[in-house]
Amino acid sequence: MRLRKRKNLEERIGVHTDLLIIDEHPFIRKKPEAERYSLIDTKKVFGNDNPVYIEIGCGKGGFVTDMAIKYPQINFLAVEKVSNVIICGLDKTKEKNLTNVRYICCDASNLCYYIKNDSISRIFLNFSCPWPKRKYANQRLTNKRFLVVYDDFLKADGEIWQKTDSEEFFDYSMESLTDYGFKLKSVSRDLANSDCDYNVTTEYERFFMNEGKAIYRLEAFRK
Ligand SMILES: C[S@@+](CC[C@H](N)C(=O)[O-])C[C@H]1O[C@@H](n2cnc3c(N)ncnc32)[C@H](O)[C@@H]1O
Repeated sequence: MRLRKRKNLEERIGVHTDLLIIDEHPFIRKKPEAERYSLIDTKKVFGNDNPVYIEIGCGKGGFVTDMAIKYPQINFLAVEKVSNVIICGLDKTKEKNLTNVRYICCDASNLCYYIKNDSISRIFLNFSCPWPKRKYANQRLTNKRFLVVYDDFLKADGEIWQKTDSEEFFDYSMESLTDYGFKLKSVSRDLANSDCDYNVTTEYERFFMNEGKAIYRLEAFRK
């Protein structure tokens, strides 16, 4: 389902230049390509050297906002390709006066242009679109096409934490991650009945839980 463009979207996004550090949305795409891409200096952006976690496909930003409040000593980058959606996260972060969150509006495949190698301690993939049809498998955020990108910016001891309501996507992700060389831990096929006591829920997660659906969760690491 396509969301109708929010009213005054350009103006609403325009007030968040402090929080939205990269925006590839067409109405911002004015710079020549060569000038558009630049690596983010997270130390400069956040004013400290704290660990940086990234959520890819942050949607309306509920998870990243709650995480940033719970973990003030962590810096968070929230990535979302749809500006119509990212605006909700930007508004939330500003409303809560959070200084440890920044937003990037781009497709995950372009993160290689913005995120420095070996700079991210944890990646969250929360309820990423499962793309059930095989012909769209390369759109899944655990497809090798994306793992190659994460591999560069994830620290050697960094982790990928994934949650989904789709068993097929979960199985696909476990295979894709292990084929790539990741090891898996804390794997659960029913998060609500697991011993994981540090879960922070997302907007989609609450929706699926209310529907009585099981939540699948894993942590992937290299060493
Ligand atoms: C199903 S929503 C989940 C939102 C949120 N993580 C949650 O759990 O409530 C998935 C989000 O990922 C975004 N997304 C999908 N593919 C993406 C990509 N390649 N790059 C960046 N964002 C993407 C979509 O636009 C959508 O907002």
